[in-house]
Amino acid sequence: MSTLIIGPSMNWLEDTVINEIKNSIPELEVIRTVYKEFPDGESYVRLPIDKLSSKETIILQTLSPPQDRALIQLLQIIDAALNLGAEKIIVFSPYLAYTRQDKVFLKGEPISIRVVLNSIYAAGARFLFTIDIHNPFSLAIFPGKSENLLPLHLLVKPILQDQTSPESVLIIAPDKGALDRARKAAEYYNLEYEFLEKQRDRQTGEVVINDRGIDVKNKKVLIIDDIISTGGTISLASKILYDKGAKEVNVACSHALLIGDSYQKIKSSGVKNIYSLNTLPPKLGIQYIEAMKWSIEQVIMKI
Ligand code: R5P
Repeated sequence: MSTLIIGPSMNWLEDTVINEIKNSIPELEVIRTVYKEFPDGESYVRLPIDKLSSKETIILQTLSPPQDRALIQLLQIIDAALNLGAEKIIVFSPYLAYTRQDKVFLKGEPISIRVVLNSIYAAGARFLFTIDIHNPFSLAIFPGKSENLLPLHLLVKPILQDQTSPESVLIIAPDKGALDRARKAAEYYNLEYEFLEKQRDRQTGEVVINDRGIDVKNKKVLIIDDIISTGGTISLASKILYDKGAKEVNVACSHALLIGDSYQKIKSSGVKNIYSLNTLPPKLGIQYIEAMKWSIEQVIMKI
């Protein structure tokens, strides 16, 4: 038997999804964490059980904004689980924060993802699962076992089922770093793929995209990226693709952070559909793809 602890940052996960997970894995005990914030801003968590006697304890906590709070809550849950006798602690964090600071870009910077991964290990977790980490090589920093789950088949499926425009889809990576993801997603459904070239100014954050002369005329495209944060990358890519004659631009991402006015920015660049895996708290206008059942099944299979 295994226990699945739903952390505070995943509390929005509907009971219907949890019931589907339970139906698929009947031996899984599921508990939700009790949590609150003290008046001075400190986090409090409690696991409402007497002991943890399962062989494995899986903690489901995504590192959604405010990321630092979600991380502290995760470390607190690991500690609480150890106090209740947990033996093998597995963290499943669908969205890992700080993954984009995976090297020293400017002298004097930290490698922030190393700080996150080392803290999770130091707290007592020995297995770490995540979904579509920005740079899969970063996971090697985690001193225990780790795995990057990649449900790309789920990410592409809805656009293929969109009967309003049934033409075949061209998958586009918004930069070279996203090419491997786009290629794997395209190959799964035997689709064509291409990539754009993106450069970001490290000081100002300004993004410049080069279309590399790819042919998108009259095509229905699906831009696939790991994260949408400010929407700057996607809205610029969308404008360029429409200028080049694309018939329809859609976007699918693993992690829809969508901060500030990013949704409006993306929609006003002409993007028809915005799809995202449900790795972060839901936002209006996004078409979410349920990926938790598949992911928990993978976790159970691999531990
Ligand atoms: C960067 O390399 C990532 O893969 C995403 O493209 C980026 O984080 C998106 O950020 P934004 O939405 O702010 O352009």
